[in-house]
Parts: sequence; C-alpha cells; structure tokens
Amino acid sequence: MTDSPILVTGGAGFIGSNLVDALIARGYTVRVLDNFSTGKRSNLPVSDRLELIEGDVADAQTVHRAVEGCAAVVHLAAVASVQASVEDPVGTHQSNLVGTLNLCEAMRQNGVRRVVFASSAAIYGNNGEGQSIDENTPKAPLTPYAADKLASEHYLDFYRSQHGLEPVVFRFFNIYGPRQDPSSPYSGVISIFTERAQKGLPIAVFGDGEQTRDFLYVGDLVELLVQALEVATVEEGAINVGLNRATSLNGLLAAIGDVLGGLPPVSYQAARSGDIRHSRANNARLLQRFRLPEPATDMRDGLAKLLGR
Ligand code: NAD
Ligand code: UD1
Repeated sequence: MTDSPILVTGGAGFIGSNLVDALIARGYTVRVLDNFSTGKRSNLPVSDRLELIEGDVADAQTVHRAVEGCAAVVHLAAVASVQASVEDPVGTHQSNLVGTLNLCEAMRQNGVRRVVFASSAAIYGNNGEGQSIDENTPKAPLTPYAADKLASEHYLDFYRSQHGLEPVVFRFFNIYGPRQDPSSPYSGVISIFTERAQKGLPIAVFGDGEQTRDFLYVGDLVELLVQALEVATVEEGAINVGLNRATSLNGLLAAIGDVLGGLPPVSYQAARSGDIRHSRANNARLLQRFRLPEPATDMRDGLAKLLGR
C-alpha cells in the first residue's frame, strides 16, 4: 500500500470505474484521467481519496501532469469500440496509440515504473479460432483498434527493455458487468441483450447464435488488475485474460431468460462481416502468475448481479 495515487486512465468508463471503486475500498488514493468521451462522471464515487483530471491522453502535457507523483498506472483509456476504429482510424489512433506512447514517456520522465495495460484478444484476429488461444498464436490485427493495441504492446516492451518500465500487458477477452454502456449498436453483446430483455424489447442475434465467446465478469477482472499493481516483480510477455470457457450466444440468451423468468422475441439476422466465430482464451499463463477468484463468477451469477436479481 502506498500514499501516492494510482493513476487510472479511462477511470470513468465501464472497467475503469469498477476498478476505481475497488481501489478506494482497499484504501488506495486514486487519480483518474478521462476525457468523458464514453465514460461518465456519474460512474465515479464521491471520495476525498479520488482526484479527477479531465483531459485527453493524446495530450502529452496533460499526461505528464497526471503521471507526476503517482505510484503506478492502469492504462484503460481508449476508444473501446472496434467498429468506431474502423470508421475513424485517425481519431482512434490518437487515443489508442499516441495516448500509450505519451504515457510511456511521462512515466519514464517521472520515474514511475509499474503500468497495467488493457490489450485485447482482437490482436489475434481469426487466428486460433475454434481452439483455446494461447499468447504465442500468430497476431493478425484486422482493424485499426487491434493494430493500435498490438503497437502499444510493442512500445511498452521497448520502454521495458530500454527504460525499466514494468508493464503488465493483459489481453482481455470479453468483459461484462455493471456500467457497460449498451447505448451503441457496437456495445458489448451482454450489455445490449440484458438491457433489451429488461425493457421487453426485441433482441437481434447476428448469425445463428452458435458463435462463442469467453466472458469474464468485471469484478473478477478487477481482482486481477489490483494484483497486477501489487505483485513484487513483473515477468516479460503479454497475458491472456479469460476463463477458457466458451459460451454461445444462444446459451447466453437462455441464461438471461432464466434469470429474468422469460425473454422478449429473439430474431436471427445476417452475421456481422468479419465477426469471429469462436473466441476462447488459453489462460495457463494467467493462472501461473495471478489468482483468479476461486471460484470465478459463473455466467448465471454474473448475470444475476448485473440484473440486480
Ligand atoms: P469504456 O469506453 O467504458 O472506457 C474507456 C474510457 O476511456 C472511457 O471512460 C472514455 O471516456 C475514456 N477515454 C477514451 N479515449 C480517451 C482519451 N483520448 N483520453 C482520455 N480518456 C479517454 O470501455 P471499457 O470496456 O471500460 O474499456 C476499457 C479498456 O479495456 C479499453 O482500453 C478497451 O480497449 C479495453 N478492452 C475492453 C474489452 C471489453 O470487453 N470491454 C475487451 C478488450 C479490451
Ligand atoms: C469484444 C469487445 C472488443 C474486444 C474483444 C476481445 C466490446 C464492444 N467489444 O468484441 O473491444 O477487443 O471482445 O475479445 O466489448 N452480437 C449480436 N447481437 C448484438 C450485438 C452483438 O448477435 O446486438 C454478436 C456479435 O455479432 C458477436 C458477439 O455478439 O458475434 C459478440 O459481440 P461483441 O460483444 O460486440 O464483442 P466482440 O466482437 O467479441
């Protein structure tokens, strides 16, 4: 434990605000840097141990100010929608790559070493599809989002070897839970399905619903993020973050129906072009280095928490 703040970039977003709550509850002081592009002030707790800097990670001076005096950083600020990156590659790049590089440089200048970075399973593209995907699977970034995440990993590795940064690079698979914003058509599928099911609105499945994802409850992810801040030493190499469990969308809908006692009409539409069919994490490296909550939150319990049941 340290009196110096933990900087959480993107701390007003879905994952970030869940992390901020956990850090405050554990007695940390937290500094959030967020431009509120998708994050919300109302996601943040009221606490005298929370400091807020409204600003952009693409602005080097702002990032320098945010890093100054910090004990460590969790870097979550990014355009999180893959489709948004397809529509605006240049704008996305400012947040998703320039932001990471600004952070690395500000950390070097301020002598801050530990940084936990939110990379993504998207960097594997379609490689490893249908198997459990390990970290050595060839990378195939198919979108600006994935290209920026992979390039960010390379920059972090450069600052590790040249300047002694201690990056913990987590490749998140599909995260879900409270505060995931369902408002865009490209929002996470669980946030969309649960919101529509609660409101009794029709649900659209793209494809036959037999595609699978490896869903991890945000509360379990937060436990890992805190451990990554606290572990004494950091080993080289990125780490997949998932449960190595495949859930189909049809299985997901059945679980939502179970928790709510019924479902609105469900229609099956054309699959999204470029959609990955099966995505499941080989999490052996994660389990070697970190402790997942035991037991990890299963889908039904996670949905019940999300739906307040
Ligand atoms: P989110 O959109 O809720 O959070 C992102 C936060 O970053 C928001 O608060 C937003 O306002 C802020 N932000 C965006 N651009 C910024 C900028 N230029 N400067 C300052 N703040 C900025 O999304 P999330 O799901 O919480 O994602 C958090 C991180 O995890 C992202 O880096 C995302 O790419 C990564 N990730 C998420 C998932 C998932 O399943 N949710 C999977 C893989 C990776
Ligand atoms: C998600 C993340 C991405 C991350 C990747 C890592 C989001 C929004 N995207 O992408 O940031 O890098 O995991 O694994 O969190 N679907 C429907 N109906 C809908 C919405 C979606 O059928 O209304 C389907 C999609 O076509 C897809 C599946 O649900 O087959 C999952 O989609 P989505 O939640 O957008 O996640 P990913 O594309 O896996």
